[in-house]
Amino acid sequence: MKKFIVTGGLGFIGSNLIKYLLELGYFVINVDKVSYASNFYNVQEFKKNKLYKFIKLDISDKKKLDQIIKRYKPNCIFNLAAETHVDRSIDRSDDFIQSNIKGVHALLETLLKYKNIKLVHVSTDEVFGNVKKNLRTKENSPYEPLNPYAATKAASDHLINSYINTYKLKAIITHCCNNYGPRQNLEKFIPKIIFSILNKKKIPVYGKGINSREWIYVKDHCKALHKIYLKGKIGESYNIGSNLNMRNIDLVKRIILISKEINIFDKKTKIKFIQDRPGHDLRYALNSNKIRTKLKWSNSINIKNGILKTLNWYKNNKDFYKMIKNKKFKNRLGLRK
Ligand SMILES: NC(=O)c1ccc[n+]([C@@H]2O[C@H](COP(=O)([O-])OP(=O)(O)OC[C@H]3O[C@@H](n4cnc5c(N)ncnc54)[C@H](O)[C@@H]3O)[C@@H](O)[C@H]2O)c1
Repeated sequence: MKKFIVTGGLGFIGSNLIKYLLELGYFVINVDKVSYASNFYNVQEFKKNKLYKFIKLDISDKKKLDQIIKRYKPNCIFNLAAETHVDRSIDRSDDFIQSNIKGVHALLETLLKYKNIKLVHVSTDEVFGNVKKNLRTKENSPYEPLNPYAATKAASDHLINSYINTYKLKAIITHCCNNYGPRQNLEKFIPKIIFSILNKKKIPVYGKGINSREWIYVKDHCKALHKIYLKGKIGESYNIGSNLNMRNIDLVKRIILISKEINIFDKKTKIKFIQDRPGHDLRYALNSNKIRTKLKWSNSINIKNGILKTLNWYKNNKDFYKMIKNKKFKNRLGLRK
């Protein structure tokens, strides 16, 4: 039976990826350090599955990582462990340097002993920085990270490429656009909009809402990662995108429209424009022709269905809110009253 390690599996994409891999019948080991961003509710659905195992570990801990790899001999490691919230990286970037650079370095050093194990490293479209209107970045476009989070992700990509070149590690890098779907931390944009709608609170939008992002439903991303494991070329990188760009304000209006259709929108709920994020990139956009043509992957969930699924998930999974780890954040949202 094929075995995979997924790092960061208590977070948003990691937990969705584990769910998908378990559905395909693989054995999956979830390695997560249990940071504020993790949520045990995310693995509730499959935690008793015999094919699932959880290990609490920071990927920077080379010794323990080595023991786990030696014991389980996985066919592939999907590395999703990272600090991910741009705003937090602007306030204080230490944890980002630790997990996103030093953590990846520890993983690479450990893998030097296990060169037959594939590494699929999940990076981001943010490494390419601001993309001009009508353009889309390709896999070989220059890196131009413009916030501390993106800079740490870019640094880890460079480290990985250097280990592929120097030590012939079997690694592949992926760059995905913005994900949305079930199990995403409430501090991120779409869950925040949904939380505000469900709780009749003002919907906060940065600046004038003109920043544009490309949006993909998380399961489409997970399917792409599996396909890359199966068919991706070692040493290469793949963009994973939906080709659907939306300005933040248009996305908010779309979510409002869909929530009106399912009668969960209170007409007193208003949009509130708040002070913009410093150095806020205006637009990210990926050219994902390579994965579409070479690996025959395509995204299948359109924005309307994806938003509907996401709205319904947050509406029906109230315990997700209860199990958020960050107490201060819960207080701010009024979730601890
Ligand atoms: N969310 C997106 O839209 C998006 C888009 C493209 C790429 N990515 C990348 O995908 C990955 C997952 O993103 P997410 O949104 O699911 O993040 P998330 O913040 O929801 O989850 C990250 C998880 O990683 C764990 N973690 C952090 N540092 C760790 C460490 N040193 N050792 C072990 N575990 C650690 C956390 O505890 C958390 O459970 C990240 O690498 C991110 O850069 C995310």
